[in-house]
Amino acid sequence: MRNSSLKTYKNLKVIVTGSTGFKGAWLCFWLYLIGAKVVGISLKPEKNSILFKKLLLQKKIKQFYLDIRNFKKLNQIIKKEKPDIIFHLAAQSVVSESYINPLPTMTTNVIGSANILEGVRVNKIKNLVYITSDKCYLNDGRKKSYFENDILGGEDLYSASKACAELTFEAYFKSFLLKNKKLSFATTRAGNVIGGGDMKKDRIVPDVIKALKNKTSLEIRNPNATRPWQHVLEPVSGYLRLGELMINKKISSSVKPNWNFGPNIINNKTVLEVVKEIISCWGIKKKINIVKNKNFKEAKLLMISNIKAKKELNWSPSLNFNETIKMTVEWYKKCFFENNIEEITTKQIEYFLNK
Ligand SMILES: NC(=O)c1ccc[n+]([C@@H]2O[C@H](COP(=O)([O-])OP(=O)(O)OC[C@H]3O[C@@H](n4cnc5c(N)ncnc54)[C@H](O)[C@@H]3O)[C@@H](O)[C@H]2O)c1
Repeated sequence: MRNSSLKTYKNLKVIVTGSTGFKGAWLCFWLYLIGAKVVGISLKPEKNSILFKKLLLQKKIKQFYLDIRNFKKLNQIIKKEKPDIIFHLAAQSVVSESYINPLPTMTTNVIGSANILEGVRVNKIKNLVYITSDKCYLNDGRKKSYFENDILGGEDLYSASKACAELTFEAYFKSFLLKNKKLSFATTRAGNVIGGGDMKKDRIVPDVIKALKNKTSLEIRNPNATRPWQHVLEPVSGYLRLGELMINKKISSSVKPNWNFGPNIINNKTVLEVVKEIISCWGIKKKINIVKNKNFKEAKLLMISNIKAKKELNWSPSLNFNETIKMTVEWYKKCFFENNIEEITTKQIEYFLNK
């Protein structure tokens, strides 16, 4: 993020899909701080979610509650708003949920994403940053990182939906968008994102935080699974950096528009290491119960290379593992015990920008 204050976005019209979600709310708030005119499209905030509500985003952005599977309504909004750029983050985002509700996972992540691409195509929107996942890659059990052009695939429905979203992007890109040099589109994959405000069920950090706050038992599955952990500001800064370069036509058309925003390899830690570090930062003793995961399969190792983003976008991760956990725990503590969300969120964005 060095050399960029992201001023490009000041006064630009920006649509963020998934604005009520974890990453989307951080992105909307950051864009709001820069002075962008933000339009959010998403479902209503989930019952237990806190970020969108406590950041008072409803008052700071123009928010539409809409299912992205409804092309007609989605298209009306894109047509009316005519944004300078769209960041597409709306998705069913949890692997375990895709075992419980496979069809909504597929329709939202594949058809919903196709609807965004179609809305962009018919309304000639100039810039699109399309967010999928590190899980779009076919996990072949390797012990090395996945690169942008590796084979796509997935054995669970969530991963498959993200691979399909990628294939849909590529087909749209090659069929319609590539021909028009005025348009810029890119797809991005990030790692396992953590940070303040995530309250999603079946994600490790919210599960640990809830157990610590509520003094309930702490159960973890897959303690030895290794993941590319990164603070939410890392991929969000990558999306913003990418969008900024796209808007300013600073990315060569010869570079394939797919980007990994992964952490440095040193941030690849096991679930158990993450849980222990959170407990240590929280500052109390807590027993960890390891339970067998009977319900669904999760890949043991997954890492994504960030070499291309470093070279072509001058983007690189800013926070080390300890800082990532420390900032995450600090955010939740401020939220639960001081109820001062705007201040801590702004402070963390400023700290990140000055790294
Ligand atoms: N959080 C992670 O660790 C992680 C890692 C890799 C990729 N991703 C991807 O990044 C994106 C954002 O993730 P997140 O963690 O913020 O997810 P989240 O679950 O917190 O938020 C999802 C957002 O999508 C919206 N949404 C879901 N279904 C919708 C529909 N049918 N119509 C309209 N809106 C809908 C929700 O309302 C919410 O605003 C997703 O595409 C996710 O798959 C997340």
